[in-house]
Amino acid sequence: MATILAIESSCDETSAAVCRDGEILSNIIAGQKVHEQYGGVVPELASRAHMQNIVPVVDTALQNAKCRLDDINAVAFTQSPGLIGSLLVGTQFAKSLALALHKPLIAVHHMQAHVLANLIDDPKPSFPFLCLTVSGGHTQIVLCESPAIMKVIGETIDDAAGEAFDKSAKLLGLPYPGGPLIDKYAKEGNPTRFQFPEPQIPGLNFSFSGVKTSILYFLQNAGKSNIYKEEFMATADEKNKFITENLNDICASIQHRIITILLNKLRKAALETGIKDICIAGGVSANSGLRQALKETGEKYHWNTFIPAFQYCTDNAGMIAITGYYKYLAGEFDSLSVSASARAEW
Ligand code: KG4
Ligand code: ZN
Repeated sequence: MATILAIESSCDETSAAVCRDGEILSNIIAGQKVHEQYGGVVPELASRAHMQNIVPVVDTALQNAKCRLDDINAVAFTQSPGLIGSLLVGTQFAKSLALALHKPLIAVHHMQAHVLANLIDDPKPSFPFLCLTVSGGHTQIVLCESPAIMKVIGETIDDAAGEAFDKSAKLLGLPYPGGPLIDKYAKEGNPTRFQFPEPQIPGLNFSFSGVKTSILYFLQNAGKSNIYKEEFMATADEKNKFITENLNDICASIQHRIITILLNKLRKAALETGIKDICIAGGVSANSGLRQALKETGEKYHWNTFIPAFQYCTDNAGMIAITGYYKYLAGEFDSLSVSASARAEW
C-alpha cells in the first residue's frame, strides 16, 4: 500500500492532499484573498500567506483522509515552476517532514501534474494522449506517452490563455482573477455579437497578445471598432456605459475567441499525431465554455475526451499527489538537497 502526502504552493493557493494507491482521500485548498485589491498576485504576500496556511492545511488534509503522519510512505511537493518565494515554503516544509519521518521525498513538476490530474478519476485516458494545458502562466499542447514521458508540442509565444482571460477582465474593470467572472457573464451573452481577430501563428503554437490589444482598442472606441483610431476615442463615461450595457455579450465574445484559438490548435495536433484520447488541464479548463466546446468537438471528430473534476483543474495538491504516486511506483525519489526552481525544463 502506498500513501502519499502532497503539498502544492507554487502560486497563491496553499494546498495539501493525501493519495492512497491512486485514490485521492483528501484535497484541501486555501486561497489567498489578500491579492484581490492589487489586481494580481503579489509574490511577497503570497509567500507570507503560505507560511501561515501550510500547517493547518496539511493537518486538515491528514484528518480528512483519516490518516496519521506514521501512515505516510512518501512526501511529494511542487518543486517548479512557479513563484520562487511561494515554492520555497512548500519545498522546505516537505523536506523537513521527509527528514523527520525518514520517508522518501518526491519533487513534482507543476505543469506535468496538471496533465496527470486526468489520471485521478475514471474513466482515464490511454497512453499516448494529448493534453491542452491552460493556466494563468502556461498554454501548452502536451503529448503524454507515460506518466514520466511528456513532450510539449505547442505553446504560447506570448500571453497564456489564463492571462488573456484575466487581462481582458481587467480592461472591463472586473476584479482579479477575472477568468471565472468572464465565464459567469458569458453564460448569458451572445458569443458571436462582437468579432475579435484570430491570430495566424504557424504550427501548433498560440498567441493571445493580438486579441488582448484588439479588445483594448474595441473598449477605447466603445465598440465602434477594434482598430485604434483617435476620432473614435470614447470618453470614460461612454466607455463605461458601453461595458455596463453589453457586459454579457462582450464576455461571451471574448471567451468564444479564446476557445476557438485553443480548439483549432488542438484539432490540428490531433490530426497531425493521429491521437484520439484528448484531455484538458489547468485553471482555464474550469471554464464552462471550453469544457462544452471540447465535448462538442470531440463528438464531431470521434475523440475520447477527458476533463478533470473542477477541484483538480485549478491549482491543487491532488494533482501533485497522483504524480507523486506514479513516481513512487517507479522508485523516482529526490535527495534532501533538491531545491525549488522558478523555471523548469520538461
Ligand atoms: O492553474 P491555475 O489555477 O494557476 C496557474 O498555475 O496559473 O490557473 C489560474 C488561471 C487564472 O488565469 C484564472 O483566471 C483561470 O485559471 N481560470 C479561469 C476559470 N477558472 C480559473 N479562466 C476562465 N474561466 C474559468 N472558469
Ligand atoms: Zn497551475
